[in-house]
Amino acid sequence: MVEIGHVTAVVGIEITIKANTNSNLETHFFRGAAFKGVSIREFIAIDHGFREVVCLVEGEYLDDRMKEGDGPEQHYVRKLKVRPIGYFEDGIFSDGIKFLPKIGDIAKLIPEVNVEKIFEPKDGGGFSIGKLLKEEIQISLPWKDLFNTHVGIFGNTGSGKSNTLAKLLTTLFDLKVERMVGKSKFVVIDFNGEYSGGQICDENYKSVTKLSTRRKDSDRYALSDSEFWDAETLGILFQATTNTQKPFLRRIISGRQRFAEVPNSLKRFLRATLERVLKSKDPSLEALEQIKHLARLLDADELSEALDEVGLRSGYNIDSFHVLPEAGKNWRFLSQEEYEDFVEERFLSEVDDINIDEISGIRELQLRANLQIVRDALGGAVQYDHIQPLLRRIESFKGDLEKVISVEDEAVEKVKPLQVISFREVKQDIKKIVPILIAKQLYEHHKKTSTSPPSSTVHLVVDEAHNILSTQSSRESESWKDYRLELFEEIIKEGRKFGMFIILSSQRPSDISATIVSQVHNFFIHRLVNDRDLALLDNTISTLDSVSKSQIPSLPKGACVVTGTTFDIPMLLQVDRLDVTREPDSRDVDLDELWGDSDIII
Ligand SMILES: Nc1ncnc2c1ncn2[C@@H]1O[C@H](COP(=O)(O)OP(=O)(O)OP(=O)(O)O)[C@@H](O)[C@H]1O
Ligand SMILES: [Mg+2]
Repeated sequence: MVEIGHVTAVVGIEITIKANTNSNLETHFFRGAAFKGVSIREFIAIDHGFREVVCLVEGEYLDDRMKEGDGPEQHYVRKLKVRPIGYFEDGIFSDGIKFLPKIGDIAKLIPEVNVEKIFEPKDGGGFSIGKLLKEEIQISLPWKDLFNTHVGIFGNTGSGKSNTLAKLLTTLFDLKVERMVGKSKFVVIDFNGEYSGGQICDENYKSVTKLSTRRKDSDRYALSDSEFWDAETLGILFQATTNTQKPFLRRIISGRQRFAEVPNSLKRFLRATLERVLKSKDPSLEALEQIKHLARLLDADELSEALDEVGLRSGYNIDSFHVLPEAGKNWRFLSQEEYEDFVEERFLSEVDDINIDEISGIRELQLRANLQIVRDALGGAVQYDHIQPLLRRIESFKGDLEKVISVEDEAVEKVKPLQVISFREVKQDIKKIVPILIAKQLYEHHKKTSTSPPSSTVHLVVDEAHNILSTQSSRESESWKDYRLELFEEIIKEGRKFGMFIILSSQRPSDISATIVSQVHNFFIHRLVNDRDLALLDNTISTLDSVSKSQIPSLPKGACVVTGTTFDIPMLLQVDRLDVTREPDSRDVDLDELWGDSDIII
């Protein structure tokens, strides 16, 4: 036993130890065993009957005293401030402050093997991602209790978050992948295409969907017909407002459903609407303009031309769009019968030639939305000002969404335990929408099929989560922001019961909704320097102690503070760097190498 001092004060849980004069060696040797010397963040033990109270050294300072005896000579006493974190009983470590030392109790060093025991989970099972930063002891993490919680990985850019995330998953997959099949899946939302190569596990267990708004032949995220034709889904895709635009979408969907069994229902709908517009006793200029727009959307040139004549010749104020059939002649009103024949011949027959049998789901939506607005206009119920923005969004997102989403009769559920969805080649605004849709689909589907306790789990992994979880964004409407955050807040608040967990990583925890951060159970905190981020951690992580916190701004690459409900005490971990073949595609650029030999001569 290497004695280093004795307790001189116990105030609350703050304990002061007067250290012996020989106590500040870096390493002590005693009977052939090595003991780490005393310094900040080391552990010491204080004898307490049959137990040893384990304390963490939080500070040390010198106290000056007058030397007893004759002269007024000063001398200094080394004092340590320590905080109890647990105790050893029969060689087994338990955490928690159950026992406090008394004044006079002896403090001593802990052999290195016992330091390991402090961090070693009771059933780690070989799940090791790194070493303790200071002690350099390889440590196992309790994977069972880690992956059934929400996990947050935070740190500045380049601090090693992606490496830590990949290491966590790689280690887990190396150990357990065979047993996950059919029971659990990890869905990685990969904004920068860092995980679409050979990372995490081999391709037998991994499916990669590379979305792209640049290429036409890229992979698409498949939605089943019923998933796509759903007011919530469409509401997400086109950021519909709840008051007017969602009900409008609902009308489209219910109309489609009513005639789902009828062959060519879309074409019939188009024909019937056109007929209604042209034969209406109460003609609506707006409806006419809409239908013209629709004809242009359909590239139906003949129909467009014919419709243009209606506007030109009839004037807009007459009772009905009665027009003269032959160009160039004086125009007269036709009889009702003549007019109806004319409409049939000149306009409705054109519809038969339009080819809309093979159109994509998104284009069908666009057509139906335009038809619906005509219907609403005829009924006099349309709120153009409110619906037009939705139509414009459908119009502008249509092309890009068609490239990343496909609507299938039946979407086949993927069973591979790792599913990476890469957004590397996806435009910024689509990047903000589609992940929300994916999260919602996963959550709703899993919630519906889950049992209690859950017989399967879904783990949603979002690297660079600030892309979709930030509370600040000037480009979007408030209501959409609320929706987006509420969805994730619900997953993070309710998901655990259904076996759905989130693993997120971000550079700016303070940008992410506080509700979300405060529900995260376990944290891997890399170097963070911004005050606001640090303050947020302070407020939301109850398990973070002041010593660990003070180290966050100066952590080296790949080192992080690991804390949370799964861990007894916060620990500083240096995460192992992954092998080059398995590390995420996010390596720092080596300028020396890059600028090495240039063949270009200027
Ligand atoms: N544990 C580690 N040990 C040594 N080097 C590391 C470690 N983790 C990461 N690095 C190196 O640091 C660099 C950046 O790492 P990483 O991509 O994981 O950072 P990041 O925090 O995800 O950054 P960003 O926020 O920009 O995505 C890489 O070159 C990587 O190889
Ligand atoms: Mg990263």
